[in-house]
Amino acid sequence: MCGIVGYVGHQEVVPILLSGLRKLEYRGYDSAGVAVIDGEDLTTVKAEGKLDGLVGRLETRPVAGSLGVGHTRWATHGRPSERNAHPLVDSKGRLAVIHNGIIENFAELKQELLARDWTFQSETDTEVVANLLSSEFDRVGDLEEAVRRVVARLEGHYAFAAVAVGDRERRVVVARQGPPLVLGIGDGEQFLASDPTALLEHTRRVVYLENGDSAVLTADGFSVRDQAGQPVERPEHHLTWDPIQAEKGGYKHFMLKEIHEQPRALQETFAGRVNFERCSVHLEDLGISDETLQQIDRIHLLACGTSWHSALIGKFLIEELVRVPVEVDYGSEYRYRNPIVDSGVLAIGITQSGETADTLSAMEAARERGATLACICNVPGSQATRISEGSLITHAGPEVGVASTKAFTTQLVAFYLLALHLARVRGVAVAESIVRDLAHLPQAVAEALEQEEAIDALARSVHRAQDFLYLGRGINYPIALEGALKLKEISYIHAEGYPAGEMKHGPIALIDEDLPVVAIATGGKVFDKMRSNLQEAKARDGKVLVVTDRPQDFADLADAVLTVPSVGEHLQPVVNVIPLQLLAYHVGVRRGADVDQPRNLAKSVTVE
Ligand code: AGP
Repeated sequence: MCGIVGYVGHQEVVPILLSGLRKLEYRGYDSAGVAVIDGEDLTTVKAEGKLDGLVGRLETRPVAGSLGVGHTRWATHGRPSERNAHPLVDSKGRLAVIHNGIIENFAELKQELLARDWTFQSETDTEVVANLLSSEFDRVGDLEEAVRRVVARLEGHYAFAAVAVGDRERRVVVARQGPPLVLGIGDGEQFLASDPTALLEHTRRVVYLENGDSAVLTADGFSVRDQAGQPVERPEHHLTWDPIQAEKGGYKHFMLKEIHEQPRALQETFAGRVNFERCSVHLEDLGISDETLQQIDRIHLLACGTSWHSALIGKFLIEELVRVPVEVDYGSEYRYRNPIVDSGVLAIGITQSGETADTLSAMEAARERGATLACICNVPGSQATRISEGSLITHAGPEVGVASTKAFTTQLVAFYLLALHLARVRGVAVAESIVRDLAHLPQAVAEALEQEEAIDALARSVHRAQDFLYLGRGINYPIALEGALKLKEISYIHAEGYPAGEMKHGPIALIDEDLPVVAIATGGKVFDKMRSNLQEAKARDGKVLVVTDRPQDFADLADAVLTVPSVGEHLQPVVNVIPLQLLAYHVGVRRGADVDQPRNLAKSVTVE
């Protein structure tokens, strides 16, 4: 969950590094730094806090050079501080290392180095890598060979880049085991980053390194070696994303932009995959054969955070429309429960970034036990898509805000499409209206977005609450969980999501006039039950805020009604989450929270 950038070429490197780090700041932002090599000079500049601190340092102390690396940090080992900021330099002052991940055996390696009189300035595991590299560099005088030797001794997950003075040539040497690294191919210049959004303004030609790969980047090109140290060719991909898409587009925050992008994003998700004349869904690009899909007898959904919430809805959709049993697991829990897996299982990782370590580990665990492996993912070429036999790409476009919004709703549509595809392939009849409802979805979401002003007014009245309770039933219970998570991670207010039927088994004790109760009560088979739950909350002076397509039914009951259009029960969660996203956003803004980069969080959690 740190951001890594690197460059070697003919341009001044500092502006390139800073621009890349700006695009990656959402991956971690408690400190940042750059290292630049100019001839025999190695200069590092670092600053605690957001990237602006580093920018300010470099404005007062410009650094020239056209070879360098940069890093924005999400602390794992060692508190956020300038001392622990990357790049870390070896104690001989000749090479610099930036690193994403965790070196699990760093303590014993550090003891070995201390015994050989190497010294340390920081608390980081990365500085151990720097001194190890320097030690090997003493032996072989070649940074690439030194990296190969050091990598053989590391345990854990890492993606690191190193530059050295006195190396054989001007180059960046990198190694990857876990967190992502992508190379950008230029003309007389090469780029490196943790994810492609940092490369878009320079090149669309990218190469994704695989686990175990090391690579050398020089101005004239790059070379890759695999885990065995053998030269290997990795395929070149062409990025289709538009750099403008990755910018704010006039919105105050990326999160708000991405909330408003949802009508178009949803359209992109189902475009070319639905035949509305024949009312059928064809996932030609899924990459899993009809025969395989006909043979599976259960599905395991593996995910974290918001993606886990979409998996809960995926369970509802697949079990109701396809009648195949579905289990949903947190990525971080799955492999520790010794899951029962065999060739009859289709395991699907659901992950916006495609790089979440917990989800990837669960996916590998399922595959090792014989499952067919697939993913629902937003980033083509990411690790999840590369380890899967088939991928269902959500096409939401770059999601920069740490809080997942359009990625979540496009995941829900992806599940909807997958359920309809599975039903068709397995000969399970589905009402044509279920398919036709999709056509109305983007417009319905656009209508829900028109409530923003009312929602901001509501945010003004509730933003000082200390706790929130979110309630939903059936397919909308996961939306209650998602609404609570959005509020928590954006505004730092404690919020819990519960199945409404559970309220009387405990949470009802929390209800009083200071506790906003946010309920999702749209038409469907549990509507009446939801309404009576809200009467119970109101009877205890709870402040009832209801998301509904039947506002007239709550005039006497709710303190606030957030009206949404109806789209049919199976797609309704996609629309119902919109006011909850906006509520979390506006409450966060009113509380002065850093909406795009909430404290302690990162966009992609690439460590377990
Ligand atoms: C959601 O708003 C959070 N940012 C977080 O829970 C996120 O959904 C989770 O870390 C999973 O990320 P992924 O979808 O990229 O795997």
